[in-house]
Amino acid sequence: MPGPRMNTGRKPKNVKKTLVRVLGYVLHQKWKLVLVLLMVLISSGASVAGTYFLKPVINNFIEPLRGTNPQAADFVPFITMLAVMAGIYLLGALSSYGYMRLMIYVSNGTLNSIRHDLFNHMQDLPIQYFDTHTHGELMSRYTSDVDTLREILSQGFTSLMSCSVTIIATFVLMLVLSPLLTLLIVCMLVVMLLIVKYVGSKSAVNFQKQQRAIGRANGYIEEMIEGQKVVKVFCHEEAVTTEFAHINEELRLASTRANTFANIMMPILGNLSYVQYAITAAVGGMLVIAGRMDLGSIASFLQFSRSFSQPITQISQQFNALLAALAGAERIFEVIDEPAEVDNGYVTLVNAKESPDGMLTECAERTGIWAWKHPHEDGTLTYTRLTGEVCFEDVTFSYDGKKDVLKNVSLLARPGEKIALVGSTGAGKTTITNLINRFYDIPDGKIRYDGININKIQKDDLRRSLAMVLQDTHLFTGTVMENIRYGRLDATDEEVIAAAKLANADAFIRHLPHGYDTMLSGDGANLSQGQRQLLAIARAAVADPPVLILDEATSSIDTRTEALIEKGMDGLMEGRTVFVIAHRLSTVRNANAILVLEHGEVIERGSHDELIAQRGKYYQLYTGQFELS
Ligand SMILES: Nc1ncnc2c1ncn2[C@@H]1O[C@H](COP(=O)(O)OP(=O)(O)OP(=O)(O)O)[C@@H](O)[C@H]1O
Ligand SMILES: [Mg+2]
Repeated sequence: MPGPRMNTGRKPKNVKKTLVRVLGYVLHQKWKLVLVLLMVLISSGASVAGTYFLKPVINNFIEPLRGTNPQAADFVPFITMLAVMAGIYLLGALSSYGYMRLMIYVSNGTLNSIRHDLFNHMQDLPIQYFDTHTHGELMSRYTSDVDTLREILSQGFTSLMSCSVTIIATFVLMLVLSPLLTLLIVCMLVVMLLIVKYVGSKSAVNFQKQQRAIGRANGYIEEMIEGQKVVKVFCHEEAVTTEFAHINEELRLASTRANTFANIMMPILGNLSYVQYAITAAVGGMLVIAGRMDLGSIASFLQFSRSFSQPITQISQQFNALLAALAGAERIFEVIDEPAEVDNGYVTLVNAKESPDGMLTECAERTGIWAWKHPHEDGTLTYTRLTGEVCFEDVTFSYDGKKDVLKNVSLLARPGEKIALVGSTGAGKTTITNLINRFYDIPDGKIRYDGININKIQKDDLRRSLAMVLQDTHLFTGTVMENIRYGRLDATDEEVIAAAKLANADAFIRHLPHGYDTMLSGDGANLSQGQRQLLAIARAAVADPPVLILDEATSSIDTRTEALIEKGMDGLMEGRTVFVIAHRLSTVRNANAILVLEHGEVIERGSHDELIAQRGKYYQLYTGQFELS
């Protein structure tokens, strides 16, 4: 019967290719699959054979006994025959149980490898991919798409196999028993299938509507859960309830319609199969009376005819589920086939030792000195000390290839310098930091790190040498200690605490219910915005990198704490290159160089005093801010 799985309107684009690929995953478990196939054959074969046995049982054992004296009759062969039949059915039942159990392992193993590939590939996708795909979309690959695949894998495959075997075997045996009756059955079956098709297409349309209504309702609920605070702030509860009632009603109507059609099908087919049975029995009876057929054949034939139409409707139903599952699998494979972040970098970061004459040599232990290991085409290796010099030369960049977000930006940050980026919202400050750590790549040579073209540096190593406090802080589920340690996984507890002190986070952490062992959940929902930023700064501090990038890291922190952090960081910043982005200009006052960005262009640069003296944009921003406070 068409159920909710019936055609949801999502057809795979390339059935064969996707099927082969899914089978590729299933075939990882070759031996289990061979066993499954064997047991499917046994179980379908047993049920067909059991039915066929009716003929010899009736013809050879019951017929001869008719009208004889029960006392004189020999029942032994008859009982033996019954025992054999029972044995065959038992074997069939055991095999069915066996293959269903095994298929659970096969399907879960398959889904496990698919999920594994999907997740691993997701880690390799460029940031750009996440910019252009919503999280919900990506999540549904793991949830609904994997689920439809689970259904077809755990039941569909075996059901398709066993139905095919049953149909073929039944058809052959029916032909053997009576070609004439078989023809009759086939004709009636065609009529039934036409009806199934008609009702099925009606219900498919309605199932699509139901599917869309479910999607709308779910989307609405999800959005309202996330936006609960905004809803309450603007007192929209009532409006939201009314709107949901409307969406809910639509869903009710759509499901009612869809299921009405689907449920009509059952009784129609049920009744038709009785009619078919009656006609077959009547015609068969006439054939027996006319002496064209024996009693055993007709009994067994009738039994076959009942079990013939069932696998056919089952197959058509499974076929739709298969298409839906393949469409889901195709979407999963699309993500897996998405090109991974390319990294042609070959310059790596290594621990180094410095000899008295200033020569750097590579070593395995952590020395506190880092060097870029740079292999050259002629086979030689050079080591350059990591100092944290960042240089932009005429950098122009666009996210979408149309609108330039950065235009001819040049800057030089020497080791130990604090560079401040200021400018109005959307000016391109975060974009500059996105380029430094290669979230996005630009054509060769324009950005140099310690004199090396950053495109030549391996992304992992490049990012290891920079610590970033991102504009939107993210905390993971785990303890405070673990969250800070995310900056450098081998940091000791003491180092973590020292970093927290530096970030001025120590005091509030100690006031948490379990101090450093307090669990954070839901992206640190149990912390204030400012506290989350302090943890993010501590995380960057523990990484102890030569370059530090703070993007609005102190925007939610009170000015007094900020001043304390700055004092603590001064120690940390020594000998490091620091990029600070801040809207609060008091933060950037002591920077060595301040770059003022507007619409992606550097419009002013200089120290605080120079810029104030220029009386340009910076002066406006600065004095404007003073007017505000
Ligand atoms: N992932 C992205 N895809 C496309 N355009 C983007 C993307 N991120 C930012 N932009 C655009 O680039 C411009 C600069 O954004 P950027 O985030 O660098 O601004 P910002 O100076 O950091 O602003 P704010 O002070 O608000 O953080 C904006 O006009 C923005 O619309
Ligand atoms: Mg920004």
